[in-house]
Amino acid sequence: MLVLGVTGGIACYKAVELVRLLVKDGFVVQVIMTRGAMEFVTPLTFQTLSGMPVATETFNLTQESEIGHINLADSADLFVIAPATANVIGKIAAGIADDLLTTVLMATKAPVLIAPAMNIHMYENPILQENVRKLRRLGYHFIEPAEGYLACGYEGKGRLPEPEKILEETRRLLKKKDLVGEKLLITAGPNREPLDPVRYLSNRSSGKMGYALARAAIRRGAEVALISGPTELEPPAGARLTSVTTAAEMRHAVLEQFSGCTAVIMAAAVSDYRPVDFARKKIKRGKGPIELRLEPNPDILKEISARKNGKMLVGFAAETGELVANATKKLKDKNLDMIVANNVSEAGAGFDLDTNVATILDRGGTVRSLPLMSKDELAEQILDHLLVLKSQR
Ligand code: PMT
Repeated sequence: MLVLGVTGGIACYKAVELVRLLVKDGFVVQVIMTRGAMEFVTPLTFQTLSGMPVATETFNLTQESEIGHINLADSADLFVIAPATANVIGKIAAGIADDLLTTVLMATKAPVLIAPAMNIHMYENPILQENVRKLRRLGYHFIEPAEGYLACGYEGKGRLPEPEKILEETRRLLKKKDLVGEKLLITAGPNREPLDPVRYLSNRSSGKMGYALARAAIRRGAEVALISGPTELEPPAGARLTSVTTAAEMRHAVLEQFSGCTAVIMAAAVSDYRPVDFARKKIKRGKGPIELRLEPNPDILKEISARKNGKMLVGFAAETGELVANATKKLKDKNLDMIVANNVSEAGAGFDLDTNVATILDRGGTVRSLPLMSKDELAEQILDHLLVLKSQR
C-alpha cells in the first residue's frame, strides 16, 4: 500500500491528479490529509479517486478504529508526501508528531519520498535547506521542486514536479529487491595524509556519493560493506562500516574485504599522493618557503582489478575537462566494468553537494550522459546499470 500525505499548499490540486495516476498504475493509495490541505481540496475528492476513506484526524475514534495510525504506519510500502510544505518538512526534521500525518511518519519503517512545493524564498531559506540536508542524511528521499511560475507570483524553483514525475520516482523506489545475494564493497569519502601531528593533505570529498550508493544498495537487498574516509555523515543503517583515514588504510581494508564481495564500487576520492616524511613534531613557521616531497599512493582499483576473478568493478572518474576521453582511459587502464565520470568543476556536480551530473561508461562501449540529479537518484542509476552489465555476462 502507498500512503500519500497531502499538506496545505496550492499544489494540492496536483496531488489529486497524482492519486488518479497512482490508482491507474495499480497502486492501493491511502490518503492522509493535514488540516491545511483540507483548506484547498476536500477529502471527498481524494476519497472518490482512491476509493478509500481519507484519514485526517489522530483522535477521531471512528477513524482510529477503522484505519488506526500504527496500522497505517506498518502497512505502508512507501510514503509519499506531495505537496510537502516547509512546515511539514521542519516538523519531520525536528521529530515533531502533532497531527495524524507526522505521527504516522514517526512510526513507519517504510521509505519516505518528499516532494516539496513552496514559494522560492521559502525553498531557499537556509533553515529549510538544512532540514532537507538532515532528512537526506537520514535516508529520506526528495524530488527537487520544478522551476517556473509560482502561484505566489514569483518565478523560480518551488513548483511541485508534474504528477507523472512523482509517479516515476514512486515506481523506482518500490522496485523489487533486485540486489538480494549481492555483496557490495563500496568506498566513500576522502583520505587524509598526515604531514605532522596537526596537519594533513586531503580533498573536498564529503562521502555523500558513496553513502548514497550504500543506502540504495541496502534498500535493494544487497549486503553492503562501506569503507569510508573521514566524513560528517550518518552511517547508512544496515551497512558494515569500516572507518579509515589514509589511502594506505583504505587499501588495506579493501584488500582484506575484497574476496568476500561480488562487486566493488570505488566512489572514494583516494589521495594520489602522501608526504614522503611525517614530521613527528609540528612543523615550525619559518621565514622562507618550505618544500613538501610527496610520493604516490598505490592505485587501489588497479591492484584489485589484477585479481578480479569474476567480480564487477566500478570506478569513478573525477575530471575537470576531457571527461569522456579521460574516463575511457581510466576504464581501460584499471580494467573496470564501468566508470562513472563526473566533471567536478561543473555547477551541481562533484564534491560536497547533494547533486551530481555524471556520464556512465562501460566496457561494452556504452556512454550514457545523465542530467543533473540527486546523488540518491544517481546511485540508483549506477546500480541499475551494474545489473544490466551483470545480466549481459
Ligand atoms: O564524496 P562527495 O563529496 O559526494 O563527492 C563525490 C566524488 C566527486 C568524490 C565522486 O563522485 C568521485 O568522483 N569519486 C572519485 C574521485 C577520484 O578519486 O577520482 P580519480 O579520477 O582520481 O580516480 C579514479 C578511480 O580510481 C576512483 O574510483 C578512485 O576511487 C580510484 N583510485 C584513485 C586513486 C588511487 N590511488 N586508488 C584508487 O583506487
